[in-house]
Formats: sequence, C-alpha cells, structure tokens
Amino acid sequence: MIKLRYVKKEDAKRFYEILNKIDTKYYYSTIPKSIESERKWIERRKYKREKNQEYNYTIIYKEKVVGGCGITIYREYDHVGEIGYFVDNEFAGKGIATQAVRLLEKKAFNDLSLVRLEIRMDPLNKASEKVAIKNGYKKEGLLKKIIKFQDNYYDNFLYAKIRA
Ligand SMILES: CC(C)(COP(=O)(O)OP(=O)(O)OC[C@H]1O[C@@H](n2cnc3c(N)ncnc32)[C@H](O)[C@@H]1OP(=O)(O)O)[C@@H](O)C(=O)NCCC(=O)NCCS
Repeated sequence: MIKLRYVKKEDAKRFYEILNKIDTKYYYSTIPKSIESERKWIERRKYKREKNQEYNYTIIYKEKVVGGCGITIYREYDHVGEIGYFVDNEFAGKGIATQAVRLLEKKAFNDLSLVRLEIRMDPLNKASEKVAIKNGYKKEGLLKKIIKFQDNYYDNFLYAKIRA
C-alpha cells in the first residue's frame, strides 16, 4: 500500500507543507521555516547515511508524498536504532505510519543488521504510541525528562523490539 524511498531534495516543498500543518504538540523536532532550509536539511541526509548515522525515507502513498520516516543509529551502540515518523494529517488514521514502521524494521534488521529498535514518544502522543503497539513493540518504561526541546524537558515512553 505504501512505498519508502530515500528522501531527495525534490521532497522539500511537500515536507515543508506537511510539517507546517501536523500536530506539533508532542513532536519535539524543528519545523522547517522555509522550503530552502528543508532542502538543505535533506541534502545533508546523504552524508548522514554514508556515515551510518541516519537513514531517512519519504513515504509514498498512491504516488503522492505523504510523510517521512527514518532510523537514527545510536552513536554509542551501533546495533541500536531509533525509529521516527510523521504523516500528513490529511492522510491520518489510514495505517500509513504503521506500515512505514513495518518496512523500516525490515531494512533495519535485514539490511543494517541492527539488533534492537526503539520508538520513543510523549506519553500523551497516543497516535504514535498506537503505531508502536500495533507493530508489536514492547513498552520498557518511562524516560523522565529525556527530551530537551526549546529549553524545556519532556518525558518519553520507551518502546522497543529485538531482532528475532
Ligand atoms: C503519529 C503519526 C505519525 C501517526 O500517523 P498515522 O499514519 O495516522 O498512524 P496510523 O494510522 O498507522 O495509526 C494511528 C493509530 O492511532 C490512533 N489514534 C490517533 N489519534 C489518537 C488519539 N488521540 N488517541 C488514541 N488513538 C489515536 C488511530 O486511530 C490509529 O489506530 P487504529 O489503526 O487502531 O485506528 C501522525 O499522527 C503524526 O505525524 N503526528 C505528528 C508527528 C508525530 O507526533 N510523530 C511521532 C513522534 S514520536
């Protein structure tokens, strides 16, 4: 139903549009201020991939760019990755993020040889938590004040899956 491919600079406009209308209440990442700044961010992803630091993908649904997702490899432990995702709110609730996680997981365990995958989210981010649960991630706990964003600290639930 969906496809993932590496993010490319032509996605900058759609990413800018999508990120500027999603619910950012529990999304602690910088929202692009311009298409140009988003293009620059996307251009740096190739370097991140080559350094085995981040793998960022564009989510395609019915030939349309509807979101982004990725795997960030932990610096200290390169067998561990964290999954992240966002989906255009006009396409919410169709199972798109859930499918994206399933596809990311295959890449992470089969191609990148990761052993452990984490998904973290604000305890109030129920849609994100549901995505983790629907993919069989197990809740390992609450990470208190783990996120520092714009000078505030936030808790996150920690969900994880271990390679079978
Ligand atoms: C989180 C996000 C990616 C989910 O994308 P999505 O494609 O709508 O997700 P899915 O359709 O695969 O699954 C969402 C599930 O959460 C449920 N859900 C949505 N809002 C909910 C809420 N407030 N309370 C409880 N469940 C909720 C949906 O009903 C769905 O479950 P269902 O399939 O059993 O009906 C999207 O909401 C988003 O981009 N949010 C902003 C960015 C963000 O928070 N990213 C995650 C950071 S950790």
